[in-house]
Amino acid sequence: MTYLLAIESSCDDTAVSVLKDNEVLSSIISSQTVHSEFSGVVPELASRKHIEAILPIVRQALKEARISLQDIEVIAATQGPGLVGSLLVGFSFAKGLALARSLPFVAVSHLQGHLLSPRLAHPELTYPYLVLTASGGHTLLSIVYSPVHYEHIGKTIDDAAGEAFDKGAVLLGFSYPGGPIIDKLAKQGNPKKFTFPVAKIQGYNFSFSGLKTSLLYFLRKQMQEKFVENNLPDIAASYQHAIVEQLLRKLRKAVKEYQLKNVAIAGGVSANSYLREKFRALAEELGVNAYTVPLKYCMDNAAMIGFAAYEKYKRGIVSALDTHVFAREEIYVEKSY
Ligand code: KG4
Ligand code: ZN
Repeated sequence: MTYLLAIESSCDDTAVSVLKDNEVLSSIISSQTVHSEFSGVVPELASRKHIEAILPIVRQALKEARISLQDIEVIAATQGPGLVGSLLVGFSFAKGLALARSLPFVAVSHLQGHLLSPRLAHPELTYPYLVLTASGGHTLLSIVYSPVHYEHIGKTIDDAAGEAFDKGAVLLGFSYPGGPIIDKLAKQGNPKKFTFPVAKIQGYNFSFSGLKTSLLYFLRKQMQEKFVENNLPDIAASYQHAIVEQLLRKLRKAVKEYQLKNVAIAGGVSANSYLREKFRALAEELGVNAYTVPLKYCMDNAAMIGFAAYEKYKRGIVSALDTHVFAREEIYVEKSY
């Protein structure tokens, strides 16, 4: 039995989790609100806020897990991809803790955390599985062969799906993050009322930047007074439909081509109710098992980082204390051990 402390600080959430092996004892997330007035995350503000939050959040995570720092045997942290200034706060803090207490340190890819997150609540999900990770920073289609061996078969060539939600929401007059707002509004709307383009990109890659531009032109074109106000739910539902449609078209293609029986969705955008509903319907139609992630583990969190760290640690994979953070993870395939 091993007690792990994991830290996630890749973007605008300071998150800390304590695990006993792969069981989550506590998972604390402190979301920064400072960015809402800027329509997106301001990197410099994010790193400053992480510095203020990290120590209290570590203390809170230990308290909720009802254990003390002396009980912790492994320290883990997100290495990247993400905002370097933000990553450095959690990563350096974790390394300092490991050094001070002479504990093993495990650096974890943020994406690996998301890819494994469906297994946090579904231990019955067996390998290999296909997973669509959609968040504010990433849109990826991956095959997970084992906890430490995965392959990305597709990714966005421009904006992420979450960015499409967030930027669309700004055009409609809402603040960041806009995904949950569009989700809520769309529940009262008709997804077929307006037509927004679904990009046709080769293979399994995605593209969302044209969609945001099409919303901009669509809004500019409207002459009718109070058009947006009067049609908000229908615009939100139709725009959301175009995002979800693209995600699921690629997922459908991959299920057919790779013939995988287990399929999952993960990441912040996978909290979207329309996507979850359409995903389950698609899985049923294709006769595959569908796995979604509980909402608390869709958004950035440290439980998924600790979960991945445990899998690495179990296999004897630990990191040197001179390991660096990285901003971008192109095609990152970890070796099987
Ligand atoms: O995974 P996450 O917390 O952070 C990143 O790794 O980026 O994802 C945040 C993203 C934001 O773009 C947010 O708007 C989106 O997830 N999001 C949603 C919903 N909840 C969060 N998008 C659509 N519908 C939602 N319900
Ligand atoms: Zn994320």
